[in-house]
Amino acid sequence: MRTRVAVDEIGAHNERMWDRLARAGIPYTRPQGTPPKSRSGKRRFLDRITQGTLAGVPFEGRRVLSLAGGGGWDAILFAELGADTTLVDISSTQLATVRRLAARRGTKLAFVRADMRDLGVLGSSEFDIVFHQHSLVFVPDAARVIAEVTRVLAIGGTYVFSTMHPVTFLFYESWTGKGWRPKKTYFSDKPVPVLQPTWEFDDVKVHAPTYEYAHRTADLVNACVAHGLVVDGLWEWSPSYAGGPAGSDDALERELPAFIQIRARKTGAARAGSRSRTGPPAPPAFVRPPGDSRPSRHQRRDR
Ligand SMILES: C[S@@+](CC[C@H](N)C(=O)[O-])C[C@H]1O[C@@H](n2cnc3c(N)ncnc32)[C@H](O)[C@@H]1O
Repeated sequence: MRTRVAVDEIGAHNERMWDRLARAGIPYTRPQGTPPKSRSGKRRFLDRITQGTLAGVPFEGRRVLSLAGGGGWDAILFAELGADTTLVDISSTQLATVRRLAARRGTKLAFVRADMRDLGVLGSSEFDIVFHQHSLVFVPDAARVIAEVTRVLAIGGTYVFSTMHPVTFLFYESWTGKGWRPKKTYFSDKPVPVLQPTWEFDDVKVHAPTYEYAHRTADLVNACVAHGLVVDGLWEWSPSYAGGPAGSDDALERELPAFIQIRARKTGAARAGSRSRTGPPAPPAFVRPPGDSRPSRHQRRDR
């Protein structure tokens, strides 16, 4: 029997769903495109995957963690560019895809099946770079992931992560015929309801109702700050701005960003070795500065 690594039922359920999606072979479970053979071509290809957030950073001899990176190229390319690379994912099927590809290419990297919220099998301060793309959406407690990543990062290390944009994410599947209506309020922590849990790509259709969560921008930034990371970049972007038919995802992503991406660094001030499993402390109560008043509806409209 396979050991359970999921920290809760949400993790266990999403693991089953990702195993199912990977068996069906949807994009995100098959490395997309073919990187060039040359070293400089591989670097350009990886810089595109990382959206330039690691441009100019040398990988040779660095210790890199590709977090929840199963089914993608990034771990393989970090390794082929000289990094001592570890790939973590909760889905054994997602890991197996990269393992097969690495074996075919003769690329060496380490594989670990773990829940991103419990990296206990990895030691503290073991990595110089943690790259974590498009998967915080599958856990309710982003702060717990950020705490774990801070622990495994060495002083001076860099964490780059992206997830669904917390505003835009509320509007997919919500077209009324006249406009978009959010599926839930920005301020609740509940999962974002997935109305059509069948993933469809070309002729592949697979029913996989994953639990998905929008993480408020302030919560992501404040979790980094609370764990001693310094945020030095924040990007909001869509894969394409070409638009599409009214109500389509492409039309929405022309108006609003599909993804949010943050780069943070662990400075000497970080609490090295901390294994906090709790969320960030509550922010200080907001006190209005003297003379500040709530804008009236009229004032707001005029802005
Ligand atoms: C959208 S895919 C992204 C894959 C890859 N990073 C990429 O961008 O091509 C999401 C990945 O997150 C993994 N995942 C979901 N929940 C996880 C969890 N709790 N811990 C670790 N990995 C998880 C899935 O197995 C899947 O491989």
